[in-house]
Amino acid sequence: MDKLIIHGGRRLTGEVAVSGAKNAALPLLFATLLAPGPHRLGNLPQLRDITTAEHLLAGLGATVESRNGRVVLTSNTPATFEAPYELVRTMRASVLVLGPLLARYGLARVSLPGGCAIGARPINLHLKGLEAMGAEIHLDHGYVEARAKRLKGARIYLDLPTVGGTENLIMAATLAKGTTVLENAAREPEIVDLVRALQGMGAKIEGAGSDTVTIEGVDELKPMDYAVMPDRIEAGTLLLAAAMTAGQVRVLGARPEHNEALLSKLEEVGADIDIDEAGICVTGPGEICPVNIRTQPYPGFPTDMQAQFMALMAIGRGTSVVSETVFENRFMHVCELQRMGADINIDGHTATVQGVEQLLGAPVMATDLRASACLVLAGLAADNTTELSRIYHLDRGYEGLEQKLRKLGADIERVSA
Ligand code: UD1
Repeated sequence: MDKLIIHGGRRLTGEVAVSGAKNAALPLLFATLLAPGPHRLGNLPQLRDITTAEHLLAGLGATVESRNGRVVLTSNTPATFEAPYELVRTMRASVLVLGPLLARYGLARVSLPGGCAIGARPINLHLKGLEAMGAEIHLDHGYVEARAKRLKGARIYLDLPTVGGTENLIMAATLAKGTTVLENAAREPEIVDLVRALQGMGAKIEGAGSDTVTIEGVDELKPMDYAVMPDRIEAGTLLLAAAMTAGQVRVLGARPEHNEALLSKLEEVGADIDIDEAGICVTGPGEICPVNIRTQPYPGFPTDMQAQFMALMAIGRGTSVVSETVFENRFMHVCELQRMGADINIDGHTATVQGVEQLLGAPVMATDLRASACLVLAGLAADNTTELSRIYHLDRGYEGLEQKLRKLGADIERVSA
């Protein structure tokens, strides 16, 4: 298993390009099930989750070919309509095949994802929405089996703005008979990206990016030709690397409108932010001011940046409070940060962080994707050497992070243990 060895204390400077967004790419890949193809998808990041999605699509009859940095997919009628446990277990986003399969073929069998390290993460709202659209749903030996002759439009209120649920239901509604109105829909930029691609395929959708999305079903869709949006979480992580090392980093391709909550918090921290057409530049402050954050659905502060921001607060000059409201168990990075000398107390969904002058390099273990990124950032700012193991989590969601950081002057290398 690979490890990252980080010798901390280098000031990061320079320019680095952001990759395509994993969380946009996955629903876009699954949306190709809605039409025969050939579909063309550009700016896909090279990540383990993307390979898993391609395996899943291949199992569902698709042919997948990479040409000149673009992927060409053809979605043939599958021999099986199943997303098996082995794949859903490693990547929960696999449940996003449910809506497209049901809409196009009237049948889907998808393993229930179960819990994961950061919380229970049920899919009850995905299922409730599909039932409202006329699907018959049965649970069978750990699988959800859904059937419908043709889905029909419905008015669906989501009890909470689930990102995956909104994506699944939008995709399902594109081929339903009649109009679907999703209320209390999630507003994340990745949903807007998905809707743009679907509109290019001929779908009739209004209101993406607001809390009410209206989809008028059509009889068939055309192949997709689309480029994935830049990854706002990767961009945010690289900008935090600049803030943590008193460095100056310009992230090329980063979109300020996708990262407003983070940028306003970085300003409060004392960082200098410069935005131009090429991207976002952050200059880290000499002294990091403590700032409170509370994670919320978009446009609130993203839960996917909480762990990384806590690494920054761990070396702030004073006390900050980090509240996690989206997932129930997303503080697993705290024990590892404490091993690096951070002073953090957890009480329920709230972590109180008392900044320390210096983090201390240590052997630490990644527990999930964003926790891994948090520990990389901590290692960059710590003294001596940090050895980060279980980085397969990092490889699920960050394309070549160590190469990008090395380009900015970090002393970081991957070794095979
Ligand atoms: C997506 C992102 C993930 C991010 C999360 C929140 C992808 C591939 N992943 O995950 O990186 O952290 O959004 O921004 O895009 N919930 C229910 N019932 C449901 C669905 C969700 O109770 O049917 C709850 C979940 O348990 C969780 C909360 O809603 O507490 C948010 O989940 P959701 O927005 O669905 O996250 P994902 O789509 O899984």
